[in-house]
Amino acid sequence: MTDQFQQAARAILRANDRGGYTVPNGRVYPFQWNWDSAFVALGFDTFDRDRAWTEVETLFRVQWSDGFVPHIVFWQDEEGYFPGPSVWSTGTEPPTSGITQPPVAATVVRRLWDSAAAAGAAEDFRPRLEALFDKLIAWHRWFAVNRDHEERGVVVAMHPWETGRDNSPEWDVPGEPIDISGVGDYVRRDTGHLDAKMRPTKLEYDRYLALVQYGRAQGWDHRKIAAGNPFRVADIGMSMILLRANRDLLALAGMLGRDGSEIAGWIARAEAGISWLWDEATSTWCSRDVLTGRFSGFVTSASFLSFYAGIADPAKDAAMLNHIERIAGKVRYLMPSLDPEDPGFQMIRYWRGPVWAVVNWMIGTGLSEAGHDNWGGKVRADTLDLIRTTGFYEAFSPIDGSGSGGDDFSWTAAIGLAWSKD
Ligand code: DGY
Repeated sequence: MTDQFQQAARAILRANDRGGYTVPNGRVYPFQWNWDSAFVALGFDTFDRDRAWTEVETLFRVQWSDGFVPHIVFWQDEEGYFPGPSVWSTGTEPPTSGITQPPVAATVVRRLWDSAAAAGAAEDFRPRLEALFDKLIAWHRWFAVNRDHEERGVVVAMHPWETGRDNSPEWDVPGEPIDISGVGDYVRRDTGHLDAKMRPTKLEYDRYLALVQYGRAQGWDHRKIAAGNPFRVADIGMSMILLRANRDLLALAGMLGRDGSEIAGWIARAEAGISWLWDEATSTWCSRDVLTGRFSGFVTSASFLSFYAGIADPAKDAAMLNHIERIAGKVRYLMPSLDPEDPGFQMIRYWRGPVWAVVNWMIGTGLSEAGHDNWGGKVRADTLDLIRTTGFYEAFSPIDGSGSGGDDFSWTAAIGLAWSKD
């Protein structure tokens, strides 16, 4: 039975559908975003299976020959966003950005496949899975070469936008050496649409643009960028997400009768190397600056993706569960993007406090799979409660549930659908 909530969520996906891809939000983000599309596919899958697969296929149509998949695809001109295609200047058609985003797609494709199989439609979708598998493995190979060139088993982000958690405090200290003197004047569009209190600061934006200028000066040669970028941070979020995605890709390889040894090698490398991101001082998983070796020391929502990544380490799991219990005692809704006891916590500023439905989906899924269904169930219930009570916002205050950022947000609608259906 489709209830009113699900009808409203479907209507948002339909309204944001631009024909083969879905904009995260028509005003603030009027193009195709990489990880947004993956989550959006989970939502479509609850009522339009074909459209769900198309969302992912459209994204992979722009894959570069080296396997890279950009974080934004500028399918059509749109004045309302900055920085647009002329700033990125990647020289592709359609134009794209030159950085990537968290690789959730393989995990989503496995879900789409399982759902098709459960509905008895596996044979209809097998050719599409075969084609996507080749693209996914090429993208993961690109990660292994260009985002882990020291072979640590982690993902080294070259830009805060690449992590998806744009203004997380994890990037503050690693961002300090970025030279912003050549950035020049520019007009932001995000703060024209939204309250500046919900967005990154001018200093953060200057750094974002300086890094875009750096990549452009390297002709978007990702090996050169990996070797010389002024910002190189092993991101706990992307590292956990890629480990999980490789496990799902390996399962798909088995299902398709493909050779999975290369993927198994990436998983083994990550399992051996991921503890490089465990900060004993704060007993948490967190990001780490590759250039200085310094831990961020922050407990963020990404810290809790260890369960989703399938890391079963009893001592570390127990420490993370203690953090959840402590945080749950401080906020009404899990999971704030930053520890509410951190002095820098801001309940409506983007990735410095607000709850994000997509991160909650990964955290809740991981916790439940790992047998911590009490917490997994709470993360899910809190997420649905927030969306049902406040609306389909980009993010939410963990304290009072108020909306933060854009409304009618595609990925929030998608998670509402995926979680209200299960
Ligand atoms: C933005 O413009 O705020 C986006 O998050 C970049 O991907």
